Amino acid sequence: MSNGPLLEMKQICKRFPGVQALRNVSIAVCGGEIHALIGENGAGKSTLMKILAGVYPADSGEIYLNGHRVKISNLQEAQKLGISIIFQEFNLIPHISIGENIFFGRFPQGFCGRVNWDKLFNDAKQILTSLEIGLDPRSLIKDLSVADQQMVEIAKALSLQSQVLIMDEPTSALTQKEIDILFALMKKLKNQGVAIIFISHRLEEVKEIADRITILRDGEKVCTAEAKNLTREEIANLMVGREMETMFPKQEAKIGQTILEIKNLCRKGKLNNISFCLRRGEILGIYGLVGAGRTELARAIFGEDSVDTGDILIEEEPVTFYSPYDAVHAGIGMVPEDRSRQGLLLTQSVEFNISLPSLINYASFGKMNKKLVLERASKQVKALNIKTPSLDQKVMYLSGGNQQKVVLAKWLELEPRILILDEPTRGIDVGAKAEIYSLISNLAQKGFGVIMISSELPEILGMSDRILVMNKGRITAQFNREEAEPQKIIMAAAGRVNNESN
Ligand SMILES: Nc1ncnc2c1ncn2[C@@H]1O[C@H](COP(=O)(O)OP(=O)(O)OP(=O)(O)O)[C@@H](O)[C@H]1O
Ligand SMILES: [Mg+2]
Repeated sequence: MSNGPLLEMKQICKRFPGVQALRNVSIAVCGGEIHALIGENGAGKSTLMKILAGVYPADSGEIYLNGHRVKISNLQEAQKLGISIIFQEFNLIPHISIGENIFFGRFPQGFCGRVNWDKLFNDAKQILTSLEIGLDPRSLIKDLSVADQQMVEIAKALSLQSQVLIMDEPTSALTQKEIDILFALMKKLKNQGVAIIFISHRLEEVKEIADRITILRDGEKVCTAEAKNLTREEIANLMVGREMETMFPKQEAKIGQTILEIKNLCRKGKLNNISFCLRRGEILGIYGLVGAGRTELARAIFGEDSVDTGDILIEEEPVTFYSPYDAVHAGIGMVPEDRSRQGLLLTQSVEFNISLPSLINYASFGKMNKKLVLERASKQVKALNIKTPSLDQKVMYLSGGNQQKVVLAKWLELEPRILILDEPTRGIDVGAKAEIYSLISNLAQKGFGVIMISSELPEILGMSDRILVMNKGRITAQFNREEAEPQKIIMAAAGRVNNESN
């Protein structure tokens, strides 16, 4: 680390209608340092970083770069000062190519001021290659998976060659392999003297990569400390401001009749002869690496994608879903992986989003029971501890993690017989995770069937009654709760077919 801090933010305050997002927050980051910024959902992490990147003005406070006071009033000014940001919410334009997104607003000029497309795509290819991303820079963003979009965001920020690099939850959608590549790259940039601010809810990786950690709670700084001096538990306790109880509050549920049966489901190139059952009261974990076909499976069950062959039976009745609407009618709920695109109406209120799928339940004789809608929505907001100034707040103004809780709330509210959760705790803080696990556990106890897709092994092991492992569109292993071991699961996810327990 060099002597003085490269970047200092002093006494930053920021208020939004109804919320004091930041109160006198100061942070100093050195060149050649990876500084983690952590805290619960809604603690103010993204807001602090958006102020640094020129997205919002602070109400008060000062920013210093290399000891000089700077004023940053927009993203371009931040970029000129060498500050770049990878946003938590993707900031890519879906209908244009990867290359155009990476160089948006600064296309290389060629002959007669025309855009030099060859150079643009070549340069883009070079950046992608350095990240070991095998994508064609001419592909459109809208055709990419969430993980690939995340890698493009990272490529875009790196192309700016900044002295301060802000990464707001860059790993939440990545596979372990991609995370390893990203971390190697972060270390390289650190050695070149870049100051990196890294936001993540995964405390293990924070411990692994960060030199120092700053913890925010409710818009205030709790402390800054050397990462090696704090244990994972100490960090979690400092974040939530109390001792955490058990992380996986799984309750015993009575496992009953088969509620959902999948027989020989095939979809060319995606799903290869998938068969399994889900029983009442059961939490069925589906583990696999990104790209293993888990989301495709969920989409096929939910009627979002058609299948080539195979059958779906609900309580022994064969069903065919032509759209998610049919699936919802049959009692299936799904919390999708990509929540901002598929799960939320961002310009609508918290209340509207939570009650939308279940509105039909609140109507009698064609009239809406407004009071009941409000009551139920406010119950969910409490249960999931959604941080919002009111039920009328537009969802777009909630923090990333709180938006995700709204998607969960809306499906929990509908009380489906079968609930499919695709990465239910991605981007959610440790405290809220435990709350969500306890809600999932309650649902199972009530006799619902839950399919929980996850890339997080601890949550799969902690919550599932049974675990299916997928690789390349197939089920490669199945484990009961008692026989599940991390090593076996990882092997199966890597493609080793395990027939022992089938
Ligand atoms: N544009 C906005 N308008 C109104 N309120 C906002 C806006 N942006 C953030 N907030 C509020 O400010 C507080 C801090 O939000 P912020 O996004 O900084 O949290 P965060 O720490 O990044 O959380 P997460 O881990 O969920 O991403 C929250 O209560 C949020 O609802
Ligand atoms: Mg955030």
